[in-house]
Amino acid sequence: MVSKYFRLAARRAASRGLSNVVLLRGEALYLIATLLPAAMARTVHVYFPDPWPKSRHHRRRLLDPRTVDLVLSLLDPPRGRLFFATDHLEYGEAVVETLSLHPAVDVQRVDAWPEGPRTNYEAKFEREGRPIIRLAVRLRGGGPSSLLHPAGRHDLLVGPATDQEPSARRTS
Ligand SMILES: C[S@@+](CC[C@H](N)C(=O)[O-])C[C@H]1O[C@@H](n2cnc3c(N)ncnc32)[C@H](O)[C@@H]1O
Repeated sequence: MVSKYFRLAARRAASRGLSNVVLLRGEALYLIATLLPAAMARTVHVYFPDPWPKSRHHRRRLLDPRTVDLVLSLLDPPRGRLFFATDHLEYGEAVVETLSLHPAVDVQRVDAWPEGPRTNYEAKFEREGRPIIRLAVRLRGGGPSSLLHPAGRHDLLVGPATDQEPSARRTS
């Protein structure tokens, strides 16, 4: 989040007297790996993240086989959900493939959100008539703690792990 929007969000939360908002600004994968507790989120929203179009940079994508387990570890089983949108169609199709191969989730394409555009970029891209890939993702059964992406970088995940059942996240 650029600092302008971070400050705007902070001002809006304060002016509305919201006491249940915590704003963090930083590299998302770093924050997830080091700070955010596993299973903390009923819903994770990822809208128009950097597509990192060059193949040598794909590993930096927020949703990639190497990083997807980290992001999904935020979801609170059994009903955790992830929403995703991008106007970068190659990245969007790659995310569909990554999530479709993931044993812990069901992924669905969505034509439009019921309430309309959810972010500034989505509203702008819709006005411009650009195609958008939108996904709604649900945890299956027990969630991702024992089910990881077959091509995941499990060494990025912290915590006790065995060959049979690698742990998706640190345990404390
Ligand atoms: C194209 S803007 C979209 C902003 C907003 N989500 C929207 O849809 O209107 C992409 C935003 O994602 C942020 N971003 C991209 N990759 C990120 C990452 N790995 N960690 C944290 N923020 C990231 C960028 O800083 C930027 O603010």
